[in-house]
Amino acid sequence: MCGIFAVIGSREVSSLLIDGLRKLEYRGYDSAGIATIDNLNNDQNGQLNVTKSKGKLINLSSLIKKKPQKGHVGIAHTRWATHGKPNERNAHPHLDSSGQFAVVQNGIIENYRELSKRLKVKGIKLTTETDTEIIPHLIGLEIEESLANGLSPNEQTLLLAVQKVLAVLEGTYAIAVIWSRTPNALVVAREQAPLVLGFGEGEFFCASDTPALVGLTRTFLPLRDHEIALLTPLGIELYDDDGNRQHRAPSLLKGMELFADKRNFRHFMLKEIYEQPETAQLWIDRFLPVELPSHNPVAFPISKSILEQIEQIQILACGTSRHAGMVGGHLLEQFAGVPTKVYFASEFRYAPPPLSPNTLTIGVSQSGETADTLAALRMEKERRDSTKDANFSFHHLGITNRVDSSFGRELDNVIDIGSGIEIGVAATKTFLGQMLSFYGLTLQFASLRQKRSPQEILDLSNDLRLIPKQLSDLIKKHDSLSKDLAHLFVETKDVIFLGRGINYPIALEGALKLKEISYIHAQGYPAGELKHGPIALLDQHVPVVSLAVPGVVYEKVLSNSQEAKARDARLIGVSISGPESEMFDELFTIPKVSEWVSPLLTVVPLQLFSYHIAAHKGLDVDQPRNLAKCVTVE
Ligand code: M6R
Repeated sequence: MCGIFAVIGSREVSSLLIDGLRKLEYRGYDSAGIATIDNLNNDQNGQLNVTKSKGKLINLSSLIKKKPQKGHVGIAHTRWATHGKPNERNAHPHLDSSGQFAVVQNGIIENYRELSKRLKVKGIKLTTETDTEIIPHLIGLEIEESLANGLSPNEQTLLLAVQKVLAVLEGTYAIAVIWSRTPNALVVAREQAPLVLGFGEGEFFCASDTPALVGLTRTFLPLRDHEIALLTPLGIELYDDDGNRQHRAPSLLKGMELFADKRNFRHFMLKEIYEQPETAQLWIDRFLPVELPSHNPVAFPISKSILEQIEQIQILACGTSRHAGMVGGHLLEQFAGVPTKVYFASEFRYAPPPLSPNTLTIGVSQSGETADTLAALRMEKERRDSTKDANFSFHHLGITNRVDSSFGRELDNVIDIGSGIEIGVAATKTFLGQMLSFYGLTLQFASLRQKRSPQEILDLSNDLRLIPKQLSDLIKKHDSLSKDLAHLFVETKDVIFLGRGINYPIALEGALKLKEISYIHAQGYPAGELKHGPIALLDQHVPVVSLAVPGVVYEKVLSNSQEAKARDARLIGVSISGPESEMFDELFTIPKVSEWVSPLLTVVPLQLFSYHIAAHKGLDVDQPRNLAKCVTVE
């Protein structure tokens, strides 16, 4: 969360900074700001100019339009507040008392309280509630000392000062720093928060994520932990934390054509829902081509020798990714016979289960940057590596939409779900891609362990191959139906989602989507739990959405739905059409498919239902309040 963008070159940068932030706004949008150095006399004494604004980027960009800010170097930030309210004062960039140093930060400085006490002793008064403001003050103090010791006010002095300050910071963060006396220098550093460098023609960039570089350069290099870089109009110098110069070849951005274009859709979320048939088709073409034999049904880049050792699986993820993991957990246990547990990554880290032998740990994250998931994976690696017992080795796998993320760099085996960039904060097509990857793993394990016959493997594979067309039909049908129904729920305060078995995670996902974007309180329950408490909530004002899919628990879910209807709840079914479905007040029909693949379809009406309610309420669907696309703080 929070987006950093910075540029140095030979042209005016303020509009580039705003454009860069626009492409990163999905990372946080409660306030924004830029700082540039106006090199007035073309000497080494520029003037630092800062503009900040509360709220969406549009507020900042209209300020800059009214009062353009000069400079060939600048840093910019879009914020998702962690320390201090989202207001103009707490917005980044933050300055030192002399107004010479400006800093933007993404992450959390854990020891900022202790460091602010040190600053207080030196008579420095902090003016914001943030954990970031200490950084420019600390840099200012270091520079003061360096200059007193005879160093010149140049970029190497700035680099050295930032290096010294980094050594005392604790936490996970990425920063960018400028100094008014070095208008030809920009210093950036990373400690477990994402940061990439971009190489343009005569200009260089730094950003929290690659989309910010689109249209400026295709050549980029992700910074590694503990690295610091000095950017000048002539190039980039990269150093490790011991000050050793680093040389690595940059990479080329791929798939830029997929970048943020709403086409004719009103919101990215709707566009991304509509892209799901394509997501599924691309996934199938890549991983499930028809020519693969039943003893090796999926073209995943994971060595068979690793999978053969696995006796159990643990899945670590947050939010929607955890729901995909839960669908995966059901499939892996029930179809492939592999004992599987799914954890909240944020809980796992502090309450891990006792170590189990021959365990595959799967991390799931569309962004590949979620701090809780990364921390849980790192912790698991550390404790397994420290046993030195081969039975407890850290076998691991990441499922992500961003192979150029920390997931991609830190994990040896990664399944790229290849859904294309997702801009809407509410995950939709990446959820589908994550679920599909679990179907792939399930097929692989089921065939490897001979848990299922070749015919069963073939049946599931063929059912998956039908999904793109079925998705496309469903989206067309339910887009207009949910649009028509939306007005009925505008005043609704609570909604209960019921599902069982493989569709229980979809009930959770439906409730999460509705909460996130429409701000309606919603709870997902295993349908059988209704009578154990939540039924007390039901009356004509609390609609119940019921996922009733023919299969093991069909009759049970129908009875649970009847119980809700008997309490006057408005009943919305996601089910096949038939005599049983007459009990529903509203019905999102789905085709008759095998229960195994049903979650890939049942989630679609729920996404559209949430979308249309939020859009009807006039809410900011793509950037809901208090949320961010990428949660890089724990
Ligand atoms: O990037 P990740 O998949 O790791 O993100 C995990 C959650 O923060 C994310 O799924 C969140 O719940 C979404 N906003 C869901 O729509």
